Amino acid sequence: MDFAFTEEQRAIREAAREFARREIDPIVDEHDEAQRFPREVMSKAAELGFLGVIFPEEYGGAGLGYVEYVTVITELSKVDPSVGISVAAHNSLCTNHIFKYGDEPQRRRWVVPLARGEKIGAWALTEAGSGSDAAAARTRARKVEGGWVLDGAKTFITHGSVGDLCVVMAVSDPDGPRGHNMSAFVVEKGTPGYRSGKKENKLGIRASDTAEVILEECFVPDENLLGEPGEGFKQAMAVLDGGRISIAALGLGTALGAFETARAYARERQQFGRPIAEFQAIGFTLAEMSTRIAAAEALTFAAAAEMDRTGRVTLAASEAKLMTGEVAVFCAERGVQIHGGYGLVKDYRAEKFYRDVKICTIGEGTSEVQRLVIARQLLSA
Ligand code: CAA
Repeated sequence: MDFAFTEEQRAIREAAREFARREIDPIVDEHDEAQRFPREVMSKAAELGFLGVIFPEEYGGAGLGYVEYVTVITELSKVDPSVGISVAAHNSLCTNHIFKYGDEPQRRRWVVPLARGEKIGAWALTEAGSGSDAAAARTRARKVEGGWVLDGAKTFITHGSVGDLCVVMAVSDPDGPRGHNMSAFVVEKGTPGYRSGKKENKLGIRASDTAEVILEECFVPDENLLGEPGEGFKQAMAVLDGGRISIAALGLGTALGAFETARAYARERQQFGRPIAEFQAIGFTLAEMSTRIAAAEALTFAAAAEMDRTGRVTLAASEAKLMTGEVAVFCAERGVQIHGGYGLVKDYRAEKFYRDVKICTIGEGTSEVQRLVIARQLLSA
């Protein structure tokens, strides 16, 4: 199916595909092995507007919508899910949070350099003790003269060590009602009391940077508070609605990458005197993968189109993320199976997709959390 409807959307897809082929593909394996964040790839992606896809041109962005954004993330993730998730977290979590809830000076100060890719953004909600139950976070923000003092630690933060700034959710009213007691702050690298902690040694998406963020008596001025005090959790939930569409695109790209690798291998690999693609077991597997990908693609682009149309996508985003995540895991596993013994070694990308894919059912809300969100949406309608 072709969901890039307009000529401009098709041109964006071609640009992203060519960029991934030329700039990412040659360095994928080396960066995966070394767990090295590809800063130079991010800089080149910025030149094409990929670090600010969904932000207006007046704020340094490309001025495009979620359909184009999904197209870009899908193409990048087809070649390297590590780059896909880095671009996704930068755009739709950090930058989008500041864009959505920041005032004009905050947008000028932070959205512009982020959208241009001059700065890399992180976004910190999760803590060691609060993953799916994000409202149980314990990082504190204490009001003082002229600002706030943050104390606590955030876990599994994309760009936690390489990020130039981070949007941090912290409990600013410990006696306030759950879900209404947090505020969101921008904390810049170099702020005394702000540092990165342990960098995670991950199963997959190893070139993406995932680290702890530590806040110790970290003072930020009032100008760094985003929106109203107490609104941080609700802001985070709304930001995640858009983020989940980008993780659906990550899953879609990973599934497509695994599928294309497996199809190419099935055509070339000879057993019993013919290409294994000619055996029905393999052909049917490819058919199953392709059909599930088509369904995942339809939901992902439907969510993106709904976001562009209405700006509200809680149900559609969770459905798209749930579907693509599960489809991607299926496709990556089948991809390895089609490769047989070669699926277990690094000569082919099947092995890497199999490791990378698991983030799709976990990051930005597990599949279980997506089912919870979907059920609540259905039952509150
Ligand atoms: N938009 C706006 N507001 C929302 C909202 C949304 N989508 N979802 C909830 N809210 C509001 C609610 O309306 C409620 O406000 P009111 O009382 O005024 O109605 C308030 O927020 C609290 O909501 P809930 O009662 O639904 O909160 P909950 O504690 O039951 O939690 C949850 C709901 C869905 C489980 C939520 O905690 C959640 O999404 N958990 C998963 C967290 C997550 O996705 N973490 C990923 C971190 S990022 C990441 O992984 C980075 C990476 O790079 C991979």
